[in-house]
Amino acid sequence: MVVFQVARVETTPFDGQKPGTSGLRKKVKVFTQPHYLHNFVQSTFYALGADKVRGATLVVSGDGRYYSKDAIQIIIKMAAANGVRRIWVGQNGLLSTPAVSAVIRDRVGHDGSKANGGFILTASHNPGGPHEDFGIKYNMENGGPAPESVTDKIYENTKTIKEYLIAEGLPDVDICTVGVSSFTGPEGQFDVDVFDSTTDYVKLMKSIFDFESIRKLLSSPNFTFCYDALHGVAGVYAKRIFVEELGAEESSLLNCVPKEDFGGGHPDPNLTYAKELVARMGLGKTNNESEPPEFGAAADGDADRNMILGKRFFVTPSDSVAIIAANAVEAIPYFSSGLKGVARSMPTSAALDVVAKHLNLKFFEVPTGWKFFGNLMDAGMCSVCGEESFGTGSDHIREKDGIWAVLAWLSILAYKNKDNLGGGKLVTVEDIVRQHWSVYGRHYYTRYDYENVDAGGAKDLMAHLVKLQSSLGEVNEIIKGICSDVSNVDRADEFEYKDPVDGSISKHQGIRYLFEDGSRLVFRLSGTGSEGATIRVYIEQYEKDSSKTGRDSQEALAPLVEVAIKLSKMEAFTGRSAPTVIT
Ligand code: G6P
Ligand code: ZN
Repeated sequence: MVVFQVARVETTPFDGQKPGTSGLRKKVKVFTQPHYLHNFVQSTFYALGADKVRGATLVVSGDGRYYSKDAIQIIIKMAAANGVRRIWVGQNGLLSTPAVSAVIRDRVGHDGSKANGGFILTASHNPGGPHEDFGIKYNMENGGPAPESVTDKIYENTKTIKEYLIAEGLPDVDICTVGVSSFTGPEGQFDVDVFDSTTDYVKLMKSIFDFESIRKLLSSPNFTFCYDALHGVAGVYAKRIFVEELGAEESSLLNCVPKEDFGGGHPDPNLTYAKELVARMGLGKTNNESEPPEFGAAADGDADRNMILGKRFFVTPSDSVAIIAANAVEAIPYFSSGLKGVARSMPTSAALDVVAKHLNLKFFEVPTGWKFFGNLMDAGMCSVCGEESFGTGSDHIREKDGIWAVLAWLSILAYKNKDNLGGGKLVTVEDIVRQHWSVYGRHYYTRYDYENVDAGGAKDLMAHLVKLQSSLGEVNEIIKGICSDVSNVDRADEFEYKDPVDGSISKHQGIRYLFEDGSRLVFRLSGTGSEGATIRVYIEQYEKDSSKTGRDSQEALAPLVEVAIKLSKMEAFTGRSAPTVIT
């Protein structure tokens, strides 16, 4: 057995190693500076404490983006030197974010071991490649992202770090071949266990969904399907689940080979970046003459996000979670005994609120960031949750889950069509959504993103909006001057959240303007970018009258959009006359 020694390497702190909403994300050229990744990893080990690190079993894998393979070797060597007992790596270093969560929670090693946590190497939906982003985040024993108490400690440690530990004499480990490699260090045996990236996750999905009914749907001649992984890690799971387990045609998979640079694309599943899928589904400008599939979906780089489409039809993420919640008990075996509660992030539309009310379910509105759902789920208060930012999931893990969302929709389609398979007219995605609106009303919804604007200008715009909130009279006068058919603002504030489980308070979680008729304008700065600032404007209007729920959403929202842009003085503060992305 190869024997390694522990080297202590002197280092000095780097500025700006503060983990954001979902870990530390920076350009690759920042991460590849000597000691940069090392400092962050050692600071994480210090934050966890030697007693948690010694003898631990940690997962290390990610979405396969550029620099992942080097980063995995570095983390393996540092873990060995810090007394970690085992490192688990998905084959080729690939594990989706939801799969890491599942592996931490459920996988049992060949020697009966269980994981204590893990490093996820991803910058999620940000582009990858030598000139793009890399990222790293730590997830805890419950499979969820480290809480702020831990990430704050990590950050403090990065500011004072003087040395890190790394194994000397430990060769690079082959992470492409499944199997266990064992080594000996000063504290005894150290194992690297490389395992199939999909097995544990597939097992979990099979325990949640009725695969047989989905298989029948996918093999029905009148149902067609398409999935776009945008060259992210979702491709690995899509092949295994949709093709091998559920019988979808191989040709229904788009961009399902993971690439280090996501094929040069932006791996974010929305109407702007998932261009190929959007065209195939007959949406937007397309020369596509062939009949689009009945169902289409896409994922982001690390496969925690999802976009759901029907034939020539877009399902807003806010509607998606509401519809899943409304149908979960009938259509998904995991929920057959009822939902413990539902939750959404603040900027997500209130479609879920209406479902919760109808079904008499516990309901929570939390700040943006999946971690806020984790506490509710750990406390058994919430089963299904979702965000407008294309995240949907449940308490089966502690991350949002892109493939889960697709399986949830396929389950609903299979349930609604159980008598229509084999031929004839299907209940379509669009039918399901329109039927939902006719029962619950419709929340017209759109989000305008102004990406990579000057950070100073963005800050000033937000300050301007907060200042305006002190005089609603003035606000309403300005609004009337912009557009007379918009109702009055009757409340305006910055969203603040008190966690019902641990009592912690999160302030300044988005600027809200709430209108008398239930419409809302929300403004926030993105917490996930790596350059400049991104302003997000969320625009929402509720329509209860079922004869008016069929309008084009951009048309229905045009007056409110105009109010949002003019009230915020968007062009004056940012120099932008149009958003970068509209969803
Ligand atoms: C990540 C988190 C999500 C959150 C999103 C917000 O994806 O996991 O929970 O909704 O970031 O991103 P933003 O760029 O709007 O801060
Ligand atoms: Zn992601």
